[in-house]
Amino acid sequence: MLIARDIASARGILGGWRSAGESVAVVPTMGNLHEGHLALMDIAAQSAHRVVATIFVNAMQFDRADEVASYPRTFKEDCEKLIARGVDLLFCPDHKVIYPHGTEHQTRVELPGLTEILCGAHRPGHFTGVTTVVTKLFNILQPDVAVFGEKDYQQLQIIRRVVEDLNQPVSIVAGATVREVDGLAMSSRNSYLSSDERRRAPLLHRALRTVVARLLAGERAFAQLERAAMLSLRSNGFEPEYVQVLAADLGSPTHSQLSDLVVLGAAWLGKARLIDNLPLRKVVEEGARLAAR
Ligand code: PAF
Repeated sequence: MLIARDIASARGILGGWRSAGESVAVVPTMGNLHEGHLALMDIAAQSAHRVVATIFVNAMQFDRADEVASYPRTFKEDCEKLIARGVDLLFCPDHKVIYPHGTEHQTRVELPGLTEILCGAHRPGHFTGVTTVVTKLFNILQPDVAVFGEKDYQQLQIIRRVVEDLNQPVSIVAGATVREVDGLAMSSRNSYLSSDERRRAPLLHRALRTVVARLLAGERAFAQLERAAMLSLRSNGFEPEYVQVLAADLGSPTHSQLSDLVVLGAAWLGKARLIDNLPLRKVVEEGARLAAR
């Protein structure tokens, strides 16, 4: 695996591949890689000739400076995992390469509306940090394809919108959420959980599944379903930020068909902020597959 730490080296390598007629898929990450990230590398490998992983802990998307400093950095292990997965290039710039003038006066990519609901309502500025760095990574690497995890459902919808709005010539591909055997969505933040919290953490997924089951049973009082899920999380020691039923494009669910709904949740458990979501499309497709057997 090649490693580039600056823009000129990355562009030199990519230029060589492009002149040989090879396409490029990029998987942006902040490192501390787990199986969820590695599944995205596999999708990238199926989508293009060359796979580029990026590792950049993006200060601009964190609420607090101490969170950036304490974000788990596992560079050596990450490299080993990426090599084992056959990644061609790792782009791992440091802060100065991406933000030579600092983040305060950096040109920003702002998407009003979609970035202000759900996680955006609880983490002001977070998604502007994400859209800005992702746009910069796309400009630097100019990939044909970029792969993002569906676990960060809102982030995925935001990136799709920015790409469309700014006419960026990149196809966005989504990778399904990868879960532990007990249902907990894999996340770098799971390492913040104590062993007792880790035991309770799958209850977030379970709470969302309960909402899905009630939707499948025909209930449509969304606010009531959301309140019940929040209550059950609270009674299990979580501090929920939201549980919401929305349309798949994160608009109002009122007139949506069942298969066009998504249930999303975010909750603190100790020091870990956990997020998860269940798109009904998948559940409905799975049901139809089982019925056809
Ligand atoms: O999902 C993440 O890890 C980050 O938000 C991303 C997309 C790499 C941007 O920093």
